[in-house]
Amino acid sequence: MAEKLATLSFHDGKPSVDFPIYSGNEGPDVIDVRALYGKTGLFTYDPGFMSTASCRSSITYIDGDVGILQYRGYPIENLVETCSFLEVAYLILFGELPKKDQLDTFVDTITHHTMVHEQLSRFYNGFRRDAHPMAVMCGVVGALSAFYHDSIDINDARSREISAYRLIAKLPTITAMTYKYTTGQPFMYPRNNLSYVENFLYMTFGTPCEDWKPNPVLTRAMERILILHADHEQNASTSTVRLAGSTGANPFACISAGIAALWGPAHGGANEAVLKMLDYIGDVKNIPQFLERVKVKEDHTMLMGFGHRVYKNYDPRARIIQKTCHEVLEALDLKDDKLFKLAMALEKIALEDDYFIKRKLYPNVDFYSGIVYKALGIPVPMFTAIFALARTVGWIAQWNEMLGDADAKIGRPRQLFTGAARRDFVPMGQRK
Ligand code: ACO
Repeated sequence: MAEKLATLSFHDGKPSVDFPIYSGNEGPDVIDVRALYGKTGLFTYDPGFMSTASCRSSITYIDGDVGILQYRGYPIENLVETCSFLEVAYLILFGELPKKDQLDTFVDTITHHTMVHEQLSRFYNGFRRDAHPMAVMCGVVGALSAFYHDSIDINDARSREISAYRLIAKLPTITAMTYKYTTGQPFMYPRNNLSYVENFLYMTFGTPCEDWKPNPVLTRAMERILILHADHEQNASTSTVRLAGSTGANPFACISAGIAALWGPAHGGANEAVLKMLDYIGDVKNIPQFLERVKVKEDHTMLMGFGHRVYKNYDPRARIIQKTCHEVLEALDLKDDKLFKLAMALEKIALEDDYFIKRKLYPNVDFYSGIVYKALGIPVPMFTAIFALARTVGWIAQWNEMLGDADAKIGRPRQLFTGAARRDFVPMGQRK
């Protein structure tokens, strides 16, 4: 029995109805409206889930008003400073930081699942070389379900765990192969003497013609980027994965659905859009004119990399990535990079502008990530694919959590119908 109740009363004399209120460990309480329709014949109306908790979760907590992000209770700033990506992946998947032997076993398991079925590599030939990497990723990741039949029994915990290992291990290989396919270079097989992040960079930038050596600054930058993108509670792509998973679809199909949702410019595609926007603005002197366009709704121009559904304060990931950006540009002797300077100037001007202040619009994670990717030599269309590689950890953990939740049901929203009421069919000859 819930300790607190909310009462819904009506102005037309209908009896009022009580609903239980539940408290989480942090964040706002929720009103349990599951019985609303049964008790009143009414639905709630909440397009975009502005006030709706779609599930309970113990993975990631965000306080958007203050700018807090925690994975399993640990602040993102601590994790980024000290952990490897796989350490954070373990935390997100299993709920606790791994002890040394647990991490060693996990790393070993992931390392020994990085190769993909050889036949999968032939899938790539079906795509045009100039296909967008996210189009290729949706297809190839979805195709994994045709190769790994032995781990798609979603009712078996061990089977779900194996799928999680396979996805986390193979996403860097698939992402790097996607890049290689677009450039026409040969696919590189993973090397087990490299770390997860080094291996991804090796498969992306290495060639069979010469030795490839990791650059620690760049490896660390990529490690941070992956940690920052690993999970973000019930965002659009994660909710898509949960919705697809709620039907009993296999994990590879669900992650492919998540990749499709992530692709949009209002979500993961924003990092690519930021670079295109900076290119378009071109020079610091053009910023005021660009910002004037952004303020005109009919123009449909957004300041990409700014604003967030949850953060009404500085996105904590943006602060970290801005620092990483400085480090990478310094290490690569690109301190005077024109795009970075333009981005800094744009951020400063926007943060002092009434339009953005009034609407609590701050830089989000994507504002600076694109500049780091660019400095690392990653082409713009690949940005969102790398986001997908990182977010796979969060998606699979959220999917797994949902399957173990006794309250979870097939996701099936209701609607406010605004179409024609029942009318008589009009035969062809009588239609006006
Ligand atoms: N540029 C200009 N105006 C903006 C921006 C922006 N980037 N973001 C929001 N606004 C305005 C809206 O037009 C609205 O104005 P109004 O009150 O006059 O109508 C107001 O700010 C509130 O914004 P909403 O659209 O209600 O906020 P919502 O939560 O629906 O949207 C979103 C959030 C989609 C992220 C939006 O801010 C946006 O499109 N930003 C640019 C794209 C982007 O960077 N996306 C990445 C998000 S992070 C991620 O997914 C990894």
